[in-house]
Amino acid sequence: MVIVEDIEGVRAEVSSRRRQGKLIIFVPTMGNLHQGHVALIRHAKHYGGTVLVSLYVNPLQFGVNEDFSTYPRTLETDKAVLMEEKADILFLPDDQTMYPRGIEDQTKVEVPRLGGVLEGVTRPHFFRGVTTVVNRLFNIVQADIAVFGKKDYQQWIVIKRMVNDLAMPIEIVGVDTVREQDGLALSSRNNYLTPEQRRKAPMLYRGLLRAAEKLRSGERAYERIEQAAFEDIQSGGLRPDYIGVRRQQDLMVPDEADTAWVVLGAAYVGKTRLIDNIEVEIKV
Ligand code: PAJ
Repeated sequence: MVIVEDIEGVRAEVSSRRRQGKLIIFVPTMGNLHQGHVALIRHAKHYGGTVLVSLYVNPLQFGVNEDFSTYPRTLETDKAVLMEEKADILFLPDDQTMYPRGIEDQTKVEVPRLGGVLEGVTRPHFFRGVTTVVNRLFNIVQADIAVFGKKDYQQWIVIKRMVNDLAMPIEIVGVDTVREQDGLALSSRNNYLTPEQRRKAPMLYRGLLRAAEKLRSGERAYERIEQAAFEDIQSGGLRPDYIGVRRQQDLMVPDEADTAWVVLGAAYVGKTRLIDNIEVEIKV
């Protein structure tokens, strides 16, 4: 695995592999790699091209009261995981490489509306931070395909919209959420949970699962379904932030004609905020 820290280095590695006819597949991450990230890398590997993983904890997507300073940074074990998974290139930029003029003066990329619902209500600057950094990473790496996890469902949809709106020549692929045995979606933030909080954490998934089952069995009173899931999660000892029954394409409230739905939710366990979602396909 080659490790590069600057833009010229990435460009040189990528263009030499492209000259050999290799497809370039990009997996952006913030590190602290777990089996969810590994699933993305394995998916990326199956194209048979060059897999480039970036690792950068992006300050622009953290709010002032969020966990930027305490976000787990585990570079040495991350490198070992990437070697094990046979990633070809690791891009490890620093703040100077990503934001040479500083965060304030950086040109921002913003997806309106879609970036303001659900997660965007509680975290108003989050998606602007994500789209800005991902845009810059895409322009640095110039990959053919980029792989994202559906665990961060809205992020995946927002990135697809950005790529479409800006006519960016890259294909965006989504990979299913990897879960613990009890259903909890893998996340670097699970590291913050005490043993007792960890026991309660799967209640978010269970609440969403019950909502998904109701939709599958024909219930259509979205608000009632959302409210019931909210209460389920609350009675499991979590503090739900939002529960939304939406359509997959644009995360708007579904209408009669929609068949591809998703139930999304966020909940606090203590100070830790967890998100999850379940896709529901309705046969007509
Ligand atoms: P990070 O949280 O490190 O996640 C990197 C990628 O791994 C994302 O596409 C995310 O959806 C995926 N992922 C995380 N947990 C997963 C799980 N349990 N199952 C499947 N995929 C999972 O998301 C980010 O970083 C950042 O916002 C980033 C896109 C890198 C921009 O800074």
